[in-house]
Amino acid sequence: MKSKGIDRRWVGKTFDDFLFRPQRGAVQSRRQISLSAHLTDRLSLELPILSANMDSVTGMSMAEAMALEGGIGIIHRGLPIDRQAEKVARVKRAHGAVIENPLCLPKGSTIREARAFALRHKITGILIEESEGSGILAGLLSNRDIPWLGEYSERLVEEFMTPFEHLHTHPPGISYEDAERILFEKRIERLPLVDEQRKIHGLITRKDLLFFRDRPFASKDTKGRLLVGAAIGARGDFVERSAELISAGADCLVIDIAHGHSQVMGRALDTMRRHFPDMALICGNVATGAGARFLKEHGADAVKVGVGPGRGCRTRLETAAGVPQLQAIREAWCAVGESAPIIADGGVSDDKDIFLALICGASTVMLGSALSGTDEAPGQVIEDPATHLKKKIYRGMTSPQAVFESLYDTENPDDLEQAFETPAEGQEMQVPYKGSVADVLSRIRGHLQSAVSYAGERSLAKARAKILPDPMEYLIPLSEAARRESYER
Ligand code: XMP
Repeated sequence: MKSKGIDRRWVGKTFDDFLFRPQRGAVQSRRQISLSAHLTDRLSLELPILSANMDSVTGMSMAEAMALEGGIGIIHRGLPIDRQAEKVARVKRAHGAVIENPLCLPKGSTIREARAFALRHKITGILIEESEGSGILAGLLSNRDIPWLGEYSERLVEEFMTPFEHLHTHPPGISYEDAERILFEKRIERLPLVDEQRKIHGLITRKDLLFFRDRPFASKDTKGRLLVGAAIGARGDFVERSAELISAGADCLVIDIAHGHSQVMGRALDTMRRHFPDMALICGNVATGAGARFLKEHGADAVKVGVGPGRGCRTRLETAAGVPQLQAIREAWCAVGESAPIIADGGVSDDKDIFLALICGASTVMLGSALSGTDEAPGQVIEDPATHLKKKIYRGMTSPQAVFESLYDTENPDDLEQAFETPAEGQEMQVPYKGSVADVLSRIRGHLQSAVSYAGERSLAKARAKILPDPMEYLIPLSEAARRESYER
């Protein structure tokens, strides 16, 4: 039998098959409970949640919101390379303790140009450089300095900026604490970082520092910028796409194909490792121990698990391929343990499913439909004229609609031919409008903290360490009656 060696108690099991046996509590308040988790060996998250790389789930706004709340968003790949890379770059620029390449205008620009520039980039202070591309700081034009009356439109920025001689600046390499002290003591909003030649090396703003102070959970890189991931495929332009995404600042790449335990994936992963030896690579999807081991042996830093549990998936209906999600997570963990963190992908319909995934083997959990319908998910809110109920569209990435839209800009006729040769394994649906994703994530954080407190531990890491060797000791299989008692409301 091909699934030899699997504990029979897990076979056919998924989230609604179990309850968790409550343990003696260990904390006064669940708010003290840490949910810190590994995404890969080197990347960790304070909220173990990823938003799915789907065109109805993760664009720029979702990725930004996910990182601000302690998770991470994976920008989908149904886009031309430059547009996907631009989204990554914009998330990296969205907030940062240090803005590394601050936007500049050269001396000689008009106030009209400065106004348009500030509006377009949503910035409240423009660094003025001596000449275009020189990177030599000439002055700072803050919103307060920009005259908004029409009669000033053709005047030059240097007439209104604070010139270099009157600016407070600092050499690069300053700590955040020192920067905050200077900003406070000098009562200034911005601190340009420049070397002895006045060359610009960065910009620190009071707003950014305060922003992060208010968000202790935010997922940040070593430079204080938000974490973001991006998806790639395993054929065609994936190496070129990866190079662009990496130079745009992506912190991890997700090689995402429907059948990750395959030659195509093996070859792609070997190629990626040759080109980008140090890049964090998450690979999937697989649903068996053998699949997880295969990805790890080819060099994956994390393994994405889930074949067919997703709400927009039709794979199981169309092909019969798949493994019930909790069984798949457990099989993968038994095969690779913590050596390649497991990302449970798909099938989460209630918050309890996330906790079950985490204590049965997953280090983090990817959500699609649970985060769709929010303001930050791409797409418009649709209001039903009869009921006035608000909805958004959620769709599988192989649904005909998503496939067609991703090929909208293609110039390669082979792409079109190949796409329409492959029957759809995804579908589109309407989901209720849910408001801000920050509220959804805050609810998930609270429920996870409560679940850890029922597990009698002070942190998710401790709960996993205690439970993972044998989750069945803590799980209660449900009868039909128990399932009705638990879930029917
Ligand atoms: P949930 O249940 O969170 O699932 O909505 C999200 C995951 O579903 C997968 N996905 C697909 N699977 N056909 C599939 O078989 C598709 O068209 C499709 N689109 C997305 C994907 O793994 C995602 O993260």
